[in-house]
Amino acid sequence: MKHLIDPMDLSKQETDEIISLAQDIIAHRERYQGSMSHRKLATLFYEPSTRTRLSFTSAMMELGGQVLGFSDARSSSVSKGETVQDTVRVVGCFAEVIAMRHYIEGAQLYASEVSPVPIINAGDGSHSHPTQTLTDLLTIQRELGHIDGITIGFCGDLRFGRTVHSLIKALSRYKDIKVILIAPPELKLPDYIKRDVCERTGIPYREVETMEEVMPELDVLYMTRVQKERFLDEDEFDRVKDSFVLDAARMALAKEKMAVLHPLPRVNEILTEVDEDPRAAYFRQVENGKFVREALIVKLHEWKNDPEHGMPEHDTPVYDDTLHCGNLKCICNQEKAPAKFRRSEDGTLRCWYCDAKVR
Ligand code: CP
Repeated sequence: MKHLIDPMDLSKQETDEIISLAQDIIAHRERYQGSMSHRKLATLFYEPSTRTRLSFTSAMMELGGQVLGFSDARSSSVSKGETVQDTVRVVGCFAEVIAMRHYIEGAQLYASEVSPVPIINAGDGSHSHPTQTLTDLLTIQRELGHIDGITIGFCGDLRFGRTVHSLIKALSRYKDIKVILIAPPELKLPDYIKRDVCERTGIPYREVETMEEVMPELDVLYMTRVQKERFLDEDEFDRVKDSFVLDAARMALAKEKMAVLHPLPRVNEILTEVDEDPRAAYFRQVENGKFVREALIVKLHEWKNDPEHGMPEHDTPVYDDTLHCGNLKCICNQEKAPAKFRRSEDGTLRCWYCDAKVR
């Protein structure tokens, strides 16, 4: 069975098939209406969402299917202590596919180990957000006409931004990608992504602290929110916060053909004066999210019993009860997930579920 927990659960070919199907759905919407009739999608959202949950709902409705689930886990038996694994075993009796968002990292991977139906990770803590990645790839393709060869600047919170982590992983499979990381020291991209993704796959990257110095080079500017609560020192936040705000003056430094993406919601990191700029693609990106989720639902259904489209060969897990994942937001520290680890390229052990370095 095919789950989508991490962007790399899809091969490059499968990713391209989803992007291409989404484009066909955009061009011929009537052809796909009814393709999921009598089928049900469950949306299990343990964390707030506007775009992801409603775009999944809208996508399934467009396909003629139905949607059930919860948007507040307190209204479900989770409030009585039901585990994520028991929850998906139960919901799998009612729906053919489950989209789950959880504030706990690795929750969906753990759930997928027992789920009778495909699980789609709709965002787990600061870890991963693969359907946002599909949305981003479709948006880049539609805005620029290609993904290969782009120079992309990621700006803002690169440390906790799960959409950034997932998109960099996915881009590592395209040709001639260049990455520029624009972030304050507190919010730099985690080392394991720089090393295990960028360095291992040969994506050139460089780190800068201001937008101005790189704006003219960018084909895509991927903005994210810089949140005050991420800083230990409030003065430091006040010092850097304006460096990561996109305004008309900074847009004036950019190429004529480029695209500004943002997973949204924004707070104040893109001024509304930028919204009418034709390069501001973030609201078109939202709509692309619905089309790509339609394509994903159709493909996961098509691939469900096809051995050609199973889960990729993962690394062999290392089980060691003497080790412990130190990430308090990991499923290991919330439920009885096993002490399971993967060995990175450099020999370090990382938690199987959340990728936190353990040794
Ligand atoms: N982009 C995104 O994940 O938005 P929501 O949190 O509103 O779903």
